[in-house]
Amino acid sequence: MANVNRWGSNLTFVLAMIGSAVGLGNIWRYPYVLYSNGGGAFYIPYLVAILTLAIPFLILEYGVGYHYQSSFTKAIVKIKPKLEVYGWILPVVVFIMTVYYSTIMGWDGIYLFLSFFKGWGADPNTYLNVNLLHSVDSLGGITNFLPFVAIFMLIGWFIVWIVSRQNLDEGLGKVCEIAVPLLFVIMAFIVIFSLTLPGAGIGLAELFDPDWSLLWHFDIWMAAFGQIFFSLSLGMGAGFTYASYTKDDVDIISSGLQVIIANCAFENFAALGVFSILGYMSLHSGVPVSQIVSEGTTLIFVAYPQVFNVLGIIGLIVGPLFFFTVYIAGITSMLSSFEVLSISFQNKFAMTRAKASLILCLIGAIASMVYATSAGSYILSIADMFVNNIVVILSVFVECIIFAWVFKADRLIDFLNERSGSIKIGKIWLFMVKYIIPILLIVIWVGGMIDIFALDSIEYIIVFAILGVILIVSSIIFSLLPAKTKEWFKTGERIK
Ligand code: ALA
Repeated sequence: MANVNRWGSNLTFVLAMIGSAVGLGNIWRYPYVLYSNGGGAFYIPYLVAILTLAIPFLILEYGVGYHYQSSFTKAIVKIKPKLEVYGWILPVVVFIMTVYYSTIMGWDGIYLFLSFFKGWGADPNTYLNVNLLHSVDSLGGITNFLPFVAIFMLIGWFIVWIVSRQNLDEGLGKVCEIAVPLLFVIMAFIVIFSLTLPGAGIGLAELFDPDWSLLWHFDIWMAAFGQIFFSLSLGMGAGFTYASYTKDDVDIISSGLQVIIANCAFENFAALGVFSILGYMSLHSGVPVSQIVSEGTTLIFVAYPQVFNVLGIIGLIVGPLFFFTVYIAGITSMLSSFEVLSISFQNKFAMTRAKASLILCLIGAIASMVYATSAGSYILSIADMFVNNIVVILSVFVECIIFAWVFKADRLIDFLNERSGSIKIGKIWLFMVKYIIPILLIVIWVGGMIDIFALDSIEYIIVFAILGVILIVSSIIFSLLPAKTKEWFKTGERIK
């Protein structure tokens, strides 16, 4: 019987990984991170983060996934059966992230729809916060359900279900083969168009104006490592899972490098487009770029609609294209993070792809309704902090220790080098994954925790506690439930 969880070609694997990496983090997050952390000077910590964290860690994660040909959970069980609970923690926390990611996808779906007739009106700020989200910064807002937002979030879950229920190559593989090149083509069109706008140079000068003094600040280093982490989804199981679906002859090292180059090129390209447009807006309105630019949500759903308003008829073409691009970038990332828990379910509970998809999409869709309320964006920022500042980095630290020390990363070197073209790994790589990356991860984690301790809000603590209980209890339950198949105990190791 053909393996339902196998990429049809190595190119599909690389495209799927690029689809997984390139997401909201590249369009929604990166331009502001670059701008607010020293502009041109940011490239120094950014490159250091790529060289010291991204490249070595991605090769480790891909390498172990390739070797075990299984879910992250099953691999952890094979490495050390007693660690099974940990093997569930990472997939579950990634699922929690997928649930709130679906919220931003829902908002983007709404804006895609509105962009055909500029339905946000003359004042996009009021539209977003008052008319659409009825935002309140309090958990009390949870009782005010927003059906319009809910419908668009459910559309996202429906797409994830339709794609992920099919055999890997026919569903996810085909989607990525079409969506990822399309994403790059549309983005190229938007960026080239933006660069030709009057005032583009004003925005770019503002973006790249380097503030070298910031290099001495810990914050910009944290921002660079945080960005690389989020944007490449390092250690979140997607790379591990996708690499486990590859054919035997894949070149893991070159594939990892291709993914990193494509991801980083895309986000820098996106930043050019964003700031050219902001420069145009600045010229048009007389307001300095520094007062127009804003982070994430406001940038995409307020600043951009304002620009589309002044672009007149052209805004009716560029607007839908832009929100469509964000949607494709987001959905391919959401599909990859969804896959992490799904394959763990398939492996342990002998579920078909279709059954695991249905169950998890239903759970995800129902859980995500918490965000379709007036408190949605408030809870989303708390959940994001829980995932990114508290759990993921710590969990990736454990993953790095297990892979580098318990599994013994040394075993991968000859094997990966044999399949690699001109780029080889060796002692430096080993040193990085055994010593440097664990130290870096702990430093980043402590930096993130400082923000947590600075919080003085009982509501944040309540949400952290609820998410923490969901995470721990579900991971314990999944690990205690008996495996439904003997395959759970069989090994599919490729390195002899
Ligand atoms: N890597 C994904 C993104 O950038 C999560 O959005």
